[in-house]
Amino acid sequence: MFIKKVAVVGAGTMGADIAYVVAQAGIPVVLKDVTEELLQKASTHIQELFSSRVARGRMSPEDAADRQGLIHYTTDLAPLKDVSLVIEAVTEKLSVKQAVLQEIAAVVSPLTVLASNTSALSITALSEAVSRPERVAGFHFFYPAHMMKLVEVIRGETTDEETVSTLVRFAEEIRKIPVVVKECPGFVVNRVLMAGMAEVLRFQSETGVPYGEIDQAITAHKLAPMGPFVLADALGLDVALAVSKTLTAAYGDRFRPGPQLETLVSQGHLGVKTGQGFYSYR
Ligand SMILES: NC(=O)c1ccc[n+]([C@@H]2O[C@H](COP(=O)([O-])OP(=O)(O)OC[C@H]3O[C@@H](n4cnc5c(N)ncnc54)[C@H](O)[C@@H]3O)[C@@H](O)[C@H]2O)c1
Repeated sequence: MFIKKVAVVGAGTMGADIAYVVAQAGIPVVLKDVTEELLQKASTHIQELFSSRVARGRMSPEDAADRQGLIHYTTDLAPLKDVSLVIEAVTEKLSVKQAVLQEIAAVVSPLTVLASNTSALSITALSEAVSRPERVAGFHFFYPAHMMKLVEVIRGETTDEETVSTLVRFAEEIRKIPVVVKECPGFVVNRVLMAGMAEVLRFQSETGVPYGEIDQAITAHKLAPMGPFVLADALGLDVALAVSKTLTAAYGDRFRPGPQLETLVSQGHLGVKTGQGFYSYR
């Protein structure tokens, strides 16, 4: 199926970036969240991304304005009625995502592909929320979605071939590199990333070595482009904790992080998005 119009549901850290990527590729996109305030925040972020492209000479101001005009911000479901693909990017919680998918399925065409940007949850469990589970798949971007090329296309137990091939073609159309992966908790990349993250968190809590020293050592030795604490703050500590819990439940203690994540999240410190995480951004 050819994707003519997309909806991105959830305009947070990932959703706003994904809407930018889709509009940047010249495809109209509806961006939905629950409040005007959250949409305003997303719109400011998207404007900054386009302005930065213009400032770097990668795009004319006229093209940037045209592409920004392709994004329709809404708190309503009605504008989703004629989209051929929905990318769900709401909170990483199965019950929340299932409720959102049900709401969406009630307004879109039965042919619309329902893709989830979940980091680790079961696509099969998500698909059980709707009456056409064969149209549900994972479509997992990486942070930051406007820079990271890879997208995991995840086939659930009931996902049909047409849905997978539609998503692979769409990923290429928005200039990403799709990799089709079989379903398992955390898929491929987060299984690797979160195993490392859990070990670093345990090491830090056992030794008390400051976060900054660990981050510096890792980047200085070119083990990763950014340190794990900087990365976790940017991803969102609530997301990192939710993914750790899914993976610990599935694979056991090797994914259990040190206690710092749980403590910070319980204090409302979610990283860059709240101004405080492992580091302060105020
Ligand atoms: N943060 C990352 O680095 C990252 C990377 C890859 C995938 N993901 C996945 O992407 C998804 C979103 O993560 P995020 O980091 O953007 O989270 P976030 O907390 O920044 O944003 C989630 C957004 O969803 C909105 N939302 C909640 N319920 C909604 C509803 N019913 N309708 C519309 N919007 C609703 C929230 O208001 C919020 O703005 C999660 O599944 C996460 O696991 C995150």
